[in-house]
Amino acid sequence: MDIAFLLNGESVTLRDVDPTRSTLDWLRDTQGLTGTKEGCNEGDCGACTIMVTDEHGAKAVNACILFLGQLNGKSLTTVEGLANGNELHPAQQSMIDMHGSQCGFCTPGITMSLATAHLNGDASHDDVLAGNLCRCTGYAPIIRAACDVAEHGVTEDFDPRAGTMPDEADDKDITRPETTDELAHALMTMPHATLVAGATDVGLWATKALRDLTPVVFMNGVKDLRDIRITDDEIRIGAGVTLEDLRGAIAPHHPHFAEMLRRFASLQVRNVATIGGNIANGSPIGDAPPALIALDAILHLRRGSETRAIPLESFFIDYGKQDRRLGEFVEAVSFKRQPDRLRAYKLSKRFDQDISAVLGAFNISVEDGIITDARIAFGGMAGTPKRATHVETALVGQPWTEDNVQAALSAFAKDFTPMSDMRASAEYRSKTAQNLLLRYWHEDQGLTTSVLEVQP
Ligand SMILES: Cc1cc2nc3c(=O)[nH]c(=O)nc-3n(C[C@H](O)[C@H](O)[C@H](O)COP(=O)(O)OP(=O)(O)OC[C@H]3O[C@@H](n4cnc5c(N)ncnc54)[C@H](O)[C@@H]3O)c2cc1C
Ligand code: FES
Ligand code: FES
Repeated sequence: MDIAFLLNGESVTLRDVDPTRSTLDWLRDTQGLTGTKEGCNEGDCGACTIMVTDEHGAKAVNACILFLGQLNGKSLTTVEGLANGNELHPAQQSMIDMHGSQCGFCTPGITMSLATAHLNGDASHDDVLAGNLCRCTGYAPIIRAACDVAEHGVTEDFDPRAGTMPDEADDKDITRPETTDELAHALMTMPHATLVAGATDVGLWATKALRDLTPVVFMNGVKDLRDIRITDDEIRIGAGVTLEDLRGAIAPHHPHFAEMLRRFASLQVRNVATIGGNIANGSPIGDAPPALIALDAILHLRRGSETRAIPLESFFIDYGKQDRRLGEFVEAVSFKRQPDRLRAYKLSKRFDQDISAVLGAFNISVEDGIITDARIAFGGMAGTPKRATHVETALVGQPWTEDNVQAALSAFAKDFTPMSDMRASAEYRSKTAQNLLLRYWHEDQGLTTSVLEVQP
């Protein structure tokens, strides 16, 4: 594949490269740009954070799980590209002034996160840095550096898009579709190709499982799949919408969904990971599907010119098995506009950047004190994201009282037989699933639930 992009203001055209080579490898091994560090090589630590800029703005992204093929037409800034001659970027200067570095291994990645947040005027320092692991400095000096850099106005002479973008290499490449129609055509032509959206799952197949993924079809250039359409009747989210864009768009409608997404991986991951990937991977511990199932979401699939729409929950047939045919892809997910009754509770060992042990999503409607509808879905409780249909049945038609909620708890045993793994024991999962329903009831009554959550 031919790939053209800007690297620290210089135009780069790569001919006939492996599109699944990681950007981190390429930077370090072929360009000598070793400021971008390799820590985990799986998207967890942020040592490899770079800035990628396109028409959607400047984003902090992990280079270790970003394929070269995803860079076409974009501007890439590494830590070497921050300073202006001898003048350091404010993020670099603040890290020095506030003693934000000891061994310094994490420092370039942290500096890139700070520089991107600075450019975007984003002062949510804890969220910005949640994907940057530092072992020795401790976060106090780093947060001081973040506060310090936020006080400096955006540096006008720092423009990550400056430079002359080379002509896009081979823009008729079928593996790089730009419209949904082109994507549909590509997948009909190459039904066995690996479809790559944000590569936050697929990237690990390359870096950790060392799998040959070729041929690949990249869908991050498919512009019409990045639309979020909000009408009076429904909210429709294109498969290519990133989790971070979804977080912003959903917040006014279902704020607890947005708050749960704040804990989805890290900003670097959410900046590229898509809702389509989170559904299509069929993971039993994907965070978005339970919340969407609780909202009664419909999944829109497409194969060639054929489209179909199914309830999202029926997409997940069994562990590792989804209702998706060869050549078919997720086009969008939609749900009706509705009064906000949704709560999505994520339980994980760490608050930030951790996979859920259990995720419970509740959407219970009450009219005149009677439960008229209940949609309850869980991740981490079965081999797929799954509804608690027995619990729902036990609730509907009953007065919305604590006694009735308590009475419904025993139905969880009919819905789920969770397993024990490194994230949680079966007993923990069974117990917390019940407690989350109680939590929902308590919060609905305006009672404070005592949880150790870091507030934004
Ligand atoms: C450090 C780290 C932390 C993470 N934390 C979380 C977390 O907290 N919660 C969570 O749920 N997940 C988490 N993940 C997993 C991952 O980020 C999500 O599953 C993400 O949504 C995947 O989206 P993607 O666009 O990157 O998919 P990709 O990796 O590009 O693709 C994933 C799979 O879906 C297929 N696919 C992608 N798009 C489509 C489509 N439109 N139609 C059909 N098939 C498609 C691909 O072929 C592939 O099989 C984490 C991952 C990492 C690396
Ligand atoms: S090396 Fe750890 S996130 Fe990339
Ligand atoms: S300064 Fe050593 S890991 Fe952060």
